Amino acid sequence: TSARAAQSARFPFTAIPAATDNTVHVPEGYNWKVLARWGDPLFSDAPDFDAATGGTVDGSDRIFGENTDGMELFEVDGRQVIAVNHEYVNRKINLPAAQAGTPGSADDVRKLQNLQGVTVMEVVEDDTGWHVVVDSPLNRRITHLSPMAISGPAAGHDLLKTEADPTGTAALGTLNNCGAGKTPWGTYLTCEENFNGYFGATAETELPEEVAAGYGRYGIDPEGWGYDYHKWDARFDTAANPNEPHRAGWVVEIDPADPASVPVKRTALGRFKHENAATALAPDGRVVVYMGDDERGEFLYRFVSRDPYVPGTDTSALLDHGQLSVAKFNDDMTGDWVALTPDATGMDDAQIAVFSRIAASRVGATTMDRPEWVAVSPVAAEAYCCLTNNKNRGVKSNSGGDETPVNGPNPREANRYGQIVRWRPVDGNHAADGFEWDLYVMAGNPDVHADAYAGSANITPGNLFNSPDGMQIDSAGMVWIQTDGDDSNEGDFAGMGNNQMLVGDPVTGEIARFLTGPNGSEVTGLTWSADRRSIFVGIQHPGAPFPDGDGALPRSSVIVVKRDDNGLIG
Ligand code: FEO
Ligand code: CA
Ligand code: CA
Ligand code: CA
Repeated sequence: TSARAAQSARFPFTAIPAATDNTVHVPEGYNWKVLARWGDPLFSDAPDFDAATGGTVDGSDRIFGENTDGMELFEVDGRQVIAVNHEYVNRKINLPAAQAGTPGSADDVRKLQNLQGVTVMEVVEDDTGWHVVVDSPLNRRITHLSPMAISGPAAGHDLLKTEADPTGTAALGTLNNCGAGKTPWGTYLTCEENFNGYFGATAETELPEEVAAGYGRYGIDPEGWGYDYHKWDARFDTAANPNEPHRAGWVVEIDPADPASVPVKRTALGRFKHENAATALAPDGRVVVYMGDDERGEFLYRFVSRDPYVPGTDTSALLDHGQLSVAKFNDDMTGDWVALTPDATGMDDAQIAVFSRIAASRVGATTMDRPEWVAVSPVAAEAYCCLTNNKNRGVKSNSGGDETPVNGPNPREANRYGQIVRWRPVDGNHAADGFEWDLYVMAGNPDVHADAYAGSANITPGNLFNSPDGMQIDSAGMVWIQTDGDDSNEGDFAGMGNNQMLVGDPVTGEIARFLTGPNGSEVTGLTWSADRRSIFVGIQHPGAPFPDGDGALPRSSVIVVKRDDNGLIG
């Protein structure tokens, strides 16, 4: 208790203990409620949630999807609108129990495809709390089947052409929407992460060498991950459509103010397992987007637009022209953004976009311990990236990946706990070529280890956690850290409890636990109401029947946290 009390000195709340139960906890003086659960109707014509089966295919694109992840709130003509990702689907609770999670029909696959993607929904607060505005004209579901445009250097390239789309400019669906971002002009960036898992092959085929190398590096294999889309929807059958995987793995821009707008896959931002997209403006107005590629031994990227953002002017092509670079961290605590140019990589601009990982390997980028969310401070010229963990250093994630020795920002051999790297760009300019870096925190367990695995000095028995993943920085520059790690509370992880959300002081380094999630869940996604008196937090894949209680299904949910006195939160 004294360790926790000491931790709390810098924070407007008293840090809470670790928890191992099946609900959410917040500090004294705060409260939480559910805003939206998997299956909640967004439109009044949607079917009621069926607790036995998770619902039918009909109407499955009219309800809140499963496994909420990154989200952002937008103000549209005085209304508040949340855009929120549905990263993946729990096949075992969405398909009849007898099927054990295996689709048995095209309808089964279509239902899974509908339950993922993005929800855009209007929300409103009244005397009883926050609610989704059912039937709001701004409500929208975007799924694995929704029409998308493809823009930027890879648009129209042969690698993106398919039988159904000989132009290579019009895809269907956005896949495995993990983290998110928000542009200065008020659009939503949704990030396609483990897109490879949806593809499979019904037959053996000979692939062109370049395509086969890409399959190897991005983990596209004939079996897939059990979604079995390829057996029922030929678009996902790489034997029939070998280029279809090239049409996923992008950052997708969505206009939350226009439900009729077509989302755009921005190929200038590169193709990899995109975690999130954190934006900043350079002093000259150019748009900077930081992006992690969440796989062992992959990289941290940055895009800088060619043109400046000028409020009030056309922003529709701002993310189509610019320079993609990759981070190289030097041992002297400096770093460089190495531009992925045709000269440096021996690839053309479209190839660099489609096979960014291969381009980055060619310029000697620094292999990282799974870069998850990046967050940019609004009050200081600095940015942070969660390096979630690396259990298997030396084991290549995919064929063709680089060796992954320990290095400056990834200093521990068997990294079960993770760390957060921070960088400050030269001259405070996020578009500069160089930066200085340090480790904001190395998670660890001082109760179990006395060496580097005890963690950095700002880890104490009062704030133990592992596997930092989601991250947002509030208006005061405080760093909100969400975790997606081992919640066994045993052995190396003793005392850490369930996944959680903590708040870090960027100046003192102090970190205090603010929220604990239900056992089995990951806490991911955080955004603020317009008045900053409410925060919206995502609870993904709870392990027990959260939030409905005994006998119900576990339902991934967005919750709202407020102060009892309705004060500001961050
Ligand atoms: Fe979807 Fe890397 O988290
Ligand atoms: Ca994540
Ligand atoms: Ca994670
Ligand atoms: Ca997850």
